[in-house]
Amino acid sequence: MIIREAKEEDYPKFIEIRKNDGFEHAHELTHGWIHMMQQRGDKFFAAEDSEVKGFAIVKLDEKAKLHMIAVQEEFQGQGIGKLLVEKCEQEARDKGKKEMWLYVHETNQALGFYKKLGYNVKKAEPNFYGKGKNALMMSRIL
Ligand SMILES: CC(C)(COP(=O)(O)OP(=O)(O)OC[C@H]1O[C@@H](n2cnc3c(N)ncnc32)[C@H](O)[C@@H]1OP(=O)(O)O)[C@@H](O)C(=O)NCCC(=O)NCCS
Repeated sequence: MIIREAKEEDYPKFIEIRKNDGFEHAHELTHGWIHMMQQRGDKFFAAEDSEVKGFAIVKLDEKAKLHMIAVQEEFQGQGIGKLLVEKCEQEARDKGKKEMWLYVHETNQALGFYKKLGYNVKKAEPNFYGKGKNALMMSRIL
């Protein structure tokens, strides 16, 4: 498995992965949106061996923020998500960041994944994703 910088031709696959995992805002994940994130300096990484199996986006401005991560369902549980997070963390360290932040829906199963990777809940953000949809803000020292 290699974790590499994403290329434009990867985007349709990223969008497909998120549509398949039931991400409710998957329709917003368009080429235009991806270009906007790239223009503001976000880094996109793809996990690939025989094919692209997952991706992650890290936002690097005043704070480093793990913006999105997804692994195609049939390849989950094989360590791919962990490799993607580690790549994002390394990128943040290289940019001088000392801490990685993220938001996760309070009911998302990814909460256990983030805890496993050393992230701690810092605070609750009520209605972050819309009315009654609460987020947890998590972080990890790099
Ligand atoms: C969250 C997600 C990215 C994890 O990727 P993954 O490739 O399945 O995770 P990994 O196999 O790398 O798991 C790394 C570690 O976390 C653990 N882990 C993974 N999912 C877990 C969960 N739901 N609860 C507890 N631990 C979990 C694994 O057991 C593994 O532990 P180990 O290192 O001791 O073996 C993946 O499940 C996914 O794409 N989910 C749908 C999209 C999503 O919700 N994204 C997050 C919000 S943007």
